[in-house]
Amino acid sequence: MCGIVGYVGPRPARDIIVPGLERLEYRGYDSAGIAVLEGDHIVTERRAGRIEALKGALNGRFTDATTGIGHTRWATHGPPTERNAHPHLGGKGEVAVVHNGIIENHASLRAELVAEGFEFRSDTDTEVLAHLVAALDDRPLAEAVREVMRRAEGALAVAVMRTDEPGVIVAARRGSPLVLGVGDGEAFVASDMPAILEHTREMVVVDDDCVAIVTADGVIVTDLDGAVVDAPSRTVDWDLEAAEKGGFDDFMLKEIHEQPTAIRDTLRGRLDPAGRVVLDELPLGGRAARSFDKVFVVACGTSYHAAMMAKYAIERWTRLPVEIDIASEFRYRDPVLDEHTLVVGISQSGETADTLAATRYAKAQGAFVVAVTNVVDSSIARDADAVLYTRSGPEIGVAATKTFIAQLVVLQLLALFLAQERGSISAGRIVGLVEAIDKLPGQVEEILGRANEFEALAEKWQDVNDFFFLGRGVSCATAAEGALKLKEISYARAEYYPAGEMKHGPIALIDDEVVVVGVIPQGDLHAKALANMEEMRARDASTLLVLTDGDTEGQELADHSILLPRTEELLSPVLGVVPLQLLSYWIAKGRGLDVDKPRNLAKTVTVE
Ligand code: M6R
Repeated sequence: MCGIVGYVGPRPARDIIVPGLERLEYRGYDSAGIAVLEGDHIVTERRAGRIEALKGALNGRFTDATTGIGHTRWATHGPPTERNAHPHLGGKGEVAVVHNGIIENHASLRAELVAEGFEFRSDTDTEVLAHLVAALDDRPLAEAVREVMRRAEGALAVAVMRTDEPGVIVAARRGSPLVLGVGDGEAFVASDMPAILEHTREMVVVDDDCVAIVTADGVIVTDLDGAVVDAPSRTVDWDLEAAEKGGFDDFMLKEIHEQPTAIRDTLRGRLDPAGRVVLDELPLGGRAARSFDKVFVVACGTSYHAAMMAKYAIERWTRLPVEIDIASEFRYRDPVLDEHTLVVGISQSGETADTLAATRYAKAQGAFVVAVTNVVDSSIARDADAVLYTRSGPEIGVAATKTFIAQLVVLQLLALFLAQERGSISAGRIVGLVEAIDKLPGQVEEILGRANEFEALAEKWQDVNDFFFLGRGVSCATAAEGALKLKEISYARAEYYPAGEMKHGPIALIDDEVVVVGVIPQGDLHAKALANMEEMRARDASTLLVLTDGDTEGQELADHSILLPRTEELLSPVLGVVPLQLLSYWIAKGRGLDVDKPRNLAKTVTVE
């Protein structure tokens, strides 16, 4: 995620753009920049770090320019430096571009542009867009942007200026959000409404594969062939705070609903059309992948639950033995590590002290360390031998949701990639799994479409204080995460156990005041897990079973059930966790609690 803002009208553009970017800081704050048209040339100011740094650098400049674009960055391609900050200039500086998204074919486009003599000044994927527009200087700007939209693959929301068309911003969208604001003799471009809400409430939401010509006289939206499309404005009556949360009551709920996008972005460019997994960021092709004889996965909290799933996936597909460790325990047990050991450290923030200490320890012992993190250039990313980024955008709610789901997805890709390179799985099987992974965003969307169902269920358990979350096999990961979500935001006692372990002691706690949540997708352990639920019912517990569509046997056994779309068993945590997040959310809301800032917790734990 990144944030873009553009302005054209009679006022100084910087006075609209900079405050607008501050409202979009939730979309990323690695660097910020602005470009304005001064006379017949474009001038820019860019800074690494937060918008505060950009404000300091502007220091009373750019006050005359009335057309401009700005950007706040959440780094994906290239570290969060000034050199990589947007806007990027094309050609000899006659074009400026800000972009939110990922250009999947940037490498081939870059090679082509370099061959044509264009000089690149950043490590970003975005810069190809600027040079492509510059290369099309014989066409009107809108037509040049349409052509670029046809050529660029991936997700993009862009705003573009060119010196020969003063007073014009051309904006376009595919896959990343883009709104236009219409004012009185002025117009605005933004990634999200809060950026411009104080100036206008007349908004046009731009559709995918549309290009907008934005001038002080208004906006014209066309398709990629240049035909004008119907894009009526609507009057938005949200207040600013509601708008920042996208109309949701809390960041947590917003972030739960952003999960399909987080999965899509995390998958982007990593599955090829032939059904292979492409992880160019890992120097682990062929022989390197075959050099490992064991794997450790280390993490804390929710990230540890992603590790639980990773163990099943990596062992199943690669046949390598996998151990998982709570990061704070790892180095104190003197684990056996050497240069044939792969250590995967998972941390959404990349700054968790325990996980950093564990991965540093592993590296010092000679292991190859892969970091899985959501934050580019975070400490874990800098320390590790290689990094697999999730692409969830900044997560504001303390309870991890969209970063967890993206971790699950990227760890599945890692497992399949290693298996593919080690030759431990057939090409046909990978194709089948890749197809199933590709369906996940749509399936999560389908579950989110039924959010009311989970709200109604949560109402029943407002006053319950004892929950057990049970699963078997890979569903242990889902159950563990369900329990953590509930306890951290609702303060209910919510324990996770492998369902088969209950009879060895914890079953003593089961009575008619306990709710048992069983995560039982179709799969190898389905019958055994249902038998474990019978044991809970025999002790008078209420049962909520998370099942697969069509599981009538499970439904008959449950007091309440949630049916999920069918997927591969090892992928089922991606779907199973969604209703559990929503259930926790609604139980906590019913108790009147602040779900975004639960008591005693911090988003990033930087102490050991
Ligand atoms: O940033 P990390 O993934 O390393 O954070 C690990 C845990 O602190 C984190 O997952 C924590 O458990 C969250 N509150 C879970 O919602």
